[in-house]
Amino acid sequence: MRVVALGAAALVLAGCGSKQDALAAHSSAAHGISSLWWNMLIGSSLAFGIVACVLGMAWIRRRRPGVPGVRDGDRVAWGVVLGLGIAVPILTISALFFYSDIFLIRQTGVPTANAAPADRVKLKVRVIGHQFWWEIRYPGTPVVTANELHIPVRTNVEVLLSTRDVIHSLWVPELNKKTDLIPDQVNTLLLYADKPGRYRGQCAEFCGLQHAHMGIYVFAQPAAAFHRWLAAQARPATRASALFDAKCGSCHQIRGTPAGSHVGPDLTHVGSRSSLAALTIANSPARMREWIHDPQRVKPGSAMPAVPLTNVQVNELASYLEGLR
Ligand code: CUA
Repeated sequence: MRVVALGAAALVLAGCGSKQDALAAHSSAAHGISSLWWNMLIGSSLAFGIVACVLGMAWIRRRRPGVPGVRDGDRVAWGVVLGLGIAVPILTISALFFYSDIFLIRQTGVPTANAAPADRVKLKVRVIGHQFWWEIRYPGTPVVTANELHIPVRTNVEVLLSTRDVIHSLWVPELNKKTDLIPDQVNTLLLYADKPGRYRGQCAEFCGLQHAHMGIYVFAQPAAAFHRWLAAQARPATRASALFDAKCGSCHQIRGTPAGSHVGPDLTHVGSRSSLAALTIANSPARMREWIHDPQRVKPGSAMPAVPLTNVQVNELASYLEGLR
């Protein structure tokens, strides 16, 4: 009983928070996937419904031979068993099998089938998986960011996927299918959003303790806003912090300052992001202080260590980072 109640609660709560809905498609690729899902549901419900009806008839007439409502039922009964009970389910399920198989082959069988023609790809972005966050790079620019991927709306964006450690999988259900990030390999995923908005994505391959907290936002923006954002991100930081260099510089980069390490996320414009720790917490001065003070309490198992700091230093670092917009 408790298990059932917990399961029901989990199902209800799963609908809370940021929407992440494979049936709310915002690209032609995602429309293909949601149509497949609906057609599979309708087809299999039909087959199941027919078999359930036949079972129901058998139960009603379990003490007498024949079919309800039919006199001299023997031949009809055989017809029901062979037709509705065997032929219809086999035909329906086989049709669904071939339908979904052909869909999968068209998605994955031919390497170029899911990539847009080269001339239609307007932007290339690199996404690199880390335990447990996403590094995002815009080739041809100095822009490096984390966990928040900005793309222009109604534009084909080719995402080149790789990983620094284990296998991850990028899944933004409203925009496209899952694609794995595999060591020593570059996979590509086409992202397209038909309207501006924030689309939530998630790591979909178990990658360790904080796999569930490896979220990503895709912000689809009008082209002009996207280019303004990209130009702002390309600028180096205007201010350096000796405290940051000393305490955090061995893991993080802030372009334009001596801090230049690539172990953790690039923080050049961290103040402009909406979230921290791969969507684990919102980006606010209070949460930033909490995150710097005790990262293992906020995200146990993440690579971010608790650096010994006084409260004054935590406040100084947090306000410095929040100022990097
Ligand atoms: Cu990365 Cu799961």
